[in-house]
Amino acid sequence: MPKLNVNIDHVATVRQARGTTEPDPVLAGYLAELAGAHGIVVHLREDRRHIQDRDLYILKETVKTKLNMEMAATNEMVRIATDVMPDMVTLVPEKREELTTEGGLDVIGNKKTVSKAVDKLKDSGLFVSLFIDPDEKQIIASKDIGADMVEIHTGTYAEATSESKIEKELRKIENSVSVALDQDLRVAAGHGLDYNNIEPIVWIEEIEELNIGHSIISRAVIVGIEEAVSEMLILCD
Ligand code: PXP
Repeated sequence: MPKLNVNIDHVATVRQARGTTEPDPVLAGYLAELAGAHGIVVHLREDRRHIQDRDLYILKETVKTKLNMEMAATNEMVRIATDVMPDMVTLVPEKREELTTEGGLDVIGNKKTVSKAVDKLKDSGLFVSLFIDPDEKQIIASKDIGADMVEIHTGTYAEATSESKIEKELRKIENSVSVALDQDLRVAAGHGLDYNNIEPIVWIEEIEELNIGHSIISRAVIVGIEEAVSEMLILCD
């Protein structure tokens, strides 16, 4: 069974909609862990649209499972990550105008910047994952610059509507997982996964961790976060 890491960014999105103190993502993280989540994920974005620095610092103190900080490969974020020292960091591409992370990191096209960030993070003792598209060349480049793990972007799979496109995207993901394992990289996956499309991904046994946010937090609004996490854990098993 893959580990289920719950991304709680959208709890902070609701709080930021009113600029108040609730709902608190720290409490959501605590309840997700109580329901059995194996880890908590937050993305500290440059524009601070949801998660705030304060959330990250408190979560570092309160998360008992594993805290994964998603971040862009910028000097500011490297400085914060090496100060907070989460259990791991995931480097993601970031654009101000996007609604959510739109694609994987172009490790090949941004090798110098990404590699510099990976070096600094690893020199501080951090475990580093790179969020990349299911693309063999990006996986090999990730290994080249010293990543410990790759998180395979499942967004195109999640958005596919025809059977043939779904199959095609699944094959790409499976192939990427085996390339990553050949490169001695650990493998996670995420983006766009929900209660309906998760099953074929769970069958790819070599994927160690799934990072899921929007679908769980959306369901949590209706049934509560503990119930929403428990339901997803059943599907992961
Ligand atoms: N993995 C990464 C790297 C992400 O950026 C996100 C979105 O923040 C997720 C997983 C979770 O995606 P979703 O919210 O669609 O489940």
